[in-house]
Amino acid sequence: MQITILAIESSCDDTSAAVVRDGRVLSNCVANQEVHQLYGGVVPEVASRAHQANIIPVVDLALKKAGIDKKEITAVAFTRGPGLMGSLLVGTSFAKAFALALDIPLIEVNHMQAHVLAHFAEDPKPDFPFLCLTVSGGHTQIIRVRDFHDMEILGETLDDAAGEAFDKSGKLLGLGYPAGPLIDQYARQGQARFEFPEPAVSGLNFSFSGLKTAILYFLRDQMAKNPQFIEENLADICASIQHSIVTILLKKLRKAARQTDIREIAVAGGVSANSGLREALEVMGQKEGWHTYIPRFEYCTDNAAMIGVTAYYKYLRGEFCGQDVAPYVRGMH
Ligand code: KG4
Ligand code: ZN
Repeated sequence: MQITILAIESSCDDTSAAVVRDGRVLSNCVANQEVHQLYGGVVPEVASRAHQANIIPVVDLALKKAGIDKKEITAVAFTRGPGLMGSLLVGTSFAKAFALALDIPLIEVNHMQAHVLAHFAEDPKPDFPFLCLTVSGGHTQIIRVRDFHDMEILGETLDDAAGEAFDKSGKLLGLGYPAGPLIDQYARQGQARFEFPEPAVSGLNFSFSGLKTAILYFLRDQMAKNPQFIEENLADICASIQHSIVTILLKKLRKAARQTDIREIAVAGGVSANSGLREALEVMGQKEGWHTYIPRFEYCTDNAAMIGVTAYYKYLRGEFCGQDVAPYVRGMH
């Protein structure tokens, strides 16, 4: 029998639905919420309302693109957490109602586990055990992945996520939200000639809030001397910010790889689109003898395909949940 899963992801500001059959992605649709650009960040209440408006059209589109009728679906999967409560509730409630109406099993999925298993949506897939650096607007983690179900967080951020570091720095420069892709673009034309102090965080954890403060003071001092400083040096400032963030990420990743003696290295999350990170990963990977893996961009950012792929491996183990399951805001359960 084929296992056909309808998956829903609504943990932050994107509403996504996907159909995954026997672990293969048949469709993956995302409704972005551009409204948050007006506010310079995700507004939880606005996100929740937009999910309510988007979820039915997105699910319909995912079914249509997959060429699937509702009756062919064997299970419904949804992101249980971590994420914004109001956003998670929309996907959770929808999935429960869908499962009840069709009398099919319900599968709850952890969003962070799903970012890691996005690497199994397509070839080439990493071999177990591998390390996964998950970097996005909400997360920064290094995870040791022993198999589909056995993962251990080796390090994570103590404050801001890597994507937030890009976005908040960009805000200081007067760039729009999200600033990550813009910093990446400007950085390509600049030189990383400004230095910011590296955070002193022991072990494999990260900290980005100090960098944000250092950039704030640096810009304030420079602007006092020359009010055109940002305008005249934008590309070099962006290159320097990007270089600092990438250096922080890769130093910890190298430390984790050496400590665990693992050379299968995967990167996931929206920040993995960053060209500076990709180049530096390639260089470091060659030096260290790594096999590196970055999924296609649509599987890096928040998407329901990764929820469906994760749910497929849970289905194989009979890991279903009841109608009484509640979302959670934090944690890797
Ligand atoms: O995974 P994602 O779409 O959503 C979550 O936050 O879960 O990641 C979005 C983050 C934003 O912070 C955005 O600025 C960052 O990824 N980002 C980038 C780039 N593309 C997206 N940061 C740096 N360079 C990029 N090219
Ligand atoms: Zn995410």
